[in-house]
Amino acid sequence: MRIPLMAGLTKILLPLLLLLSVAAASSPSSDAEAVSRFQEYLRIDTAQPTPDYAAAVAFLRDQAAAVGLEARTLEFAAGKPLLLLRWPGRRPSLPSILLNSHTDVVPSEPKKWEHAPLSATLDEASGRIYARGSQDMKCVGMQYLEAIRRLRNAGFVPDRNIYVIFVPDEEIGGHEGVELFVASKEFKELNVGLVLDEGLASPREEYRVFYAERSPWWLTIKAKGAPGHGAKLYDGSAMENLMKSVEALRRFRTAQFDLVKSEEKAEGDVVSVNFAYLKAGTPTPTGFVMNLQPSEAEVGIDIRIPPSVHTEALEKRLAEEWAPSSRNLTFEFKQKGSVLDKLGKPAMTIANSSNPWWPVFEESVKRAGGKLGKPEIFPASTDARYFREVGIPAFGFSPMANTPILLHDHNEFLSKDEYLKGIGIYESIIKALATHKDDGIDEESRAEL
Ligand SMILES: *[C@@H]1O[C@H](CO)[C@@H](O)[C@H](O)[C@H]1NC(C)=O
Ligand SMILES: *[C@@H]1O[C@H](CO)[C@@H](O)[C@H](O)[C@H]1NC(C)=O
Ligand SMILES: [Zn+2]
Repeated sequence: MRIPLMAGLTKILLPLLLLLSVAAASSPSSDAEAVSRFQEYLRIDTAQPTPDYAAAVAFLRDQAAAVGLEARTLEFAAGKPLLLLRWPGRRPSLPSILLNSHTDVVPSEPKKWEHAPLSATLDEASGRIYARGSQDMKCVGMQYLEAIRRLRNAGFVPDRNIYVIFVPDEEIGGHEGVELFVASKEFKELNVGLVLDEGLASPREEYRVFYAERSPWWLTIKAKGAPGHGAKLYDGSAMENLMKSVEALRRFRTAQFDLVKSEEKAEGDVVSVNFAYLKAGTPTPTGFVMNLQPSEAEVGIDIRIPPSVHTEALEKRLAEEWAPSSRNLTFEFKQKGSVLDKLGKPAMTIANSSNPWWPVFEESVKRAGGKLGKPEIFPASTDARYFREVGIPAFGFSPMANTPILLHDHNEFLSKDEYLKGIGIYESIIKALATHKDDGIDEESRAEL
């Protein structure tokens, strides 16, 4: 269905595009080269827990040199390089654009893949490129560079500075990557106005865009009670008291999940609750003692909270309903992400016309022939949170439409055509953001006046 329509449109649009474009954006041979550069990056083993960052940075520095970008390697934690590339703008006092991607990927189980996860095999029949990182997010990093390559070849010069960063450790929390970078002098000097970071693939025709994310609350609830014979019915056992909490949390989980199932709310708009582990019992060499009710029991829970949620009310519920001390329960946070930024405001980027960057971004995607879905809250965590925490707007966006969501999954792939289309999308986005004028007058124009 889609193909004949696209072919028809191309017939009408192509002559027009050729007339309008400054220079040929792409050709079959340049497309093939772009795909093989993407494959080359995918073949570098940057899987946690032992990513080969040195190889990735060496490859990317070569790419940056070929594109004509200035490169600096920063190292905020030993062995964890962060590559910072700069495309200088004509008016460098304007707030800059920062294009972020992480170089690490999650590990994979090669036996469960059709094509080896490091092979970056291009399946000729389907056009799919199979590799760990093909969606999350080596695609995006290379698309930034390919888009800049095309813009430079066309003679385009940005007004504002464009920075591209390739960061380590996102898949293990970003603490020694973006978290340290955002706190650095080097980062402050960039005067960043807007960050683009990763999003998710979309099985539909519309690209997805994210303006906030849920904060993780990882907590354990522990119960203590008198031990007793396995045959005895008595009140106050650790297991009994803990199971009451599990039941209450399950009811809450079901109610939240129902809102998603009925499509009343999007996944990122509800509080998710998932049980990570249950720990109880008195072990024996072959299993557990069966005729003993244990004196301790514990449950671990992963809760994710959208920025719109009143967290004090939720914490009150935790203390009074889910883990009350009156039932001999205690709770402890292993991680407690804040839904507020460091200025005390909900950590979200406004995705409507009251944020001057938004219409520029939205229009530029459309101009390149992309469709954009309703802005969403990212269901998990990305490095974008570190930028939003310090009050810098950040959108999560990975241009992959008509693509199943396979990040962290077996057989992760991205089709060659979607990859190439994404380069065109970024070309349009970068061009628009690079020339967008905000209300303030920059130092360079003032000097000219
Ligand atoms: C909590 O523990 C105390 C002391 O062991 C006990 O007396 C009480 O009944 C327990 N409460 C509940 C609700 O289990
Ligand atoms: C834009 O979004 C913000 C935050 O969600 C909201 O408060 C504001 O009313 C919206 N403004 C417009 C013009 O839609
Ligand atoms: Zn990612």
